[in-house]
Amino acid sequence: MSSPLSDHKLVALLDRLHAQSDRQIAEIDEYCIQLEKKDDFDWRVFDDDMHRFFADKMVALDRDKAEFCYQLCRALGASRVVEAGTSFGVSTLYLAAAVRDNRVEDGLVIATEWDPGKAAIARRNFSEAGLSEFVDLREGDLRQTLRGLEGGIDFMLVDIWEVAKPALELVSPYLLTGAVVVCDNTTVDRGEYDDYFEFVENPANRFRTMTLPFQGGLELTVRI
Ligand SMILES: C[S@@+](CC[C@H](N)C(=O)[O-])C[C@H]1O[C@@H](n2cnc3c(N)ncnc32)[C@H](O)[C@@H]1O
Repeated sequence: MSSPLSDHKLVALLDRLHAQSDRQIAEIDEYCIQLEKKDDFDWRVFDDDMHRFFADKMVALDRDKAEFCYQLCRALGASRVVEAGTSFGVSTLYLAAAVRDNRVEDGLVIATEWDPGKAAIARRNFSEAGLSEFVDLREGDLRQTLRGLEGGIDFMLVDIWEVAKPALELVSPYLLTGAVVVCDNTTVDRGEYDDYFEFVENPANRFRTMTLPFQGGLELTVRI
């Protein structure tokens, strides 16, 4: 698939990372099928076995969705972006490239990842792409790392099903009018997002939302 990004070095890196992530999908699908067969299974409770299994899994955002996020950030002229769920940094690379390409002052993607091994790989990828200066990668649980953002946010990517609502709740006070929040897999994993939709659909929180027909559903929510 050709890319709207014109940075050839970045596109080559993304080609490699997307291919690596795609090769892991069948194994992840099989693991998840087995997990969901357990009676008391709850995605919000990550046990040791799940941590071990996912430690080397990228679970990168699909390429078309990531390019859509790049386009949205360009359309918004985004300067301050938040990403909940960084992993190896694939989607972060698109967001950081958009902030760079917008040529805004102090452009930054505030990204967060709790697995130190994944965070280290993400940093290497940012460096290889020449995008490190546009990323503030906060290591730790996002329920701590996304506190006190100090300043308006133009765009947020929620790529983390278990703690999507706590992430949005923390960022919500900083979302500027017209800011866009994109959340992955809101059709296929709708059952995991009850609290997220309750938050987004509460008029007091000033959002308007719609589910876009990307594979698995992609939620596009605007701060009004
Ligand atoms: C779906 S992956 C993100 C993929 C990434 N956006 C990409 O496109 O490459 C979700 C990531 O969130 C991380 N994560 C899960 N719970 C977290 C939490 N409470 N705080 C911070 N990171 C968390 C996981 O370790 C995992 O790497």
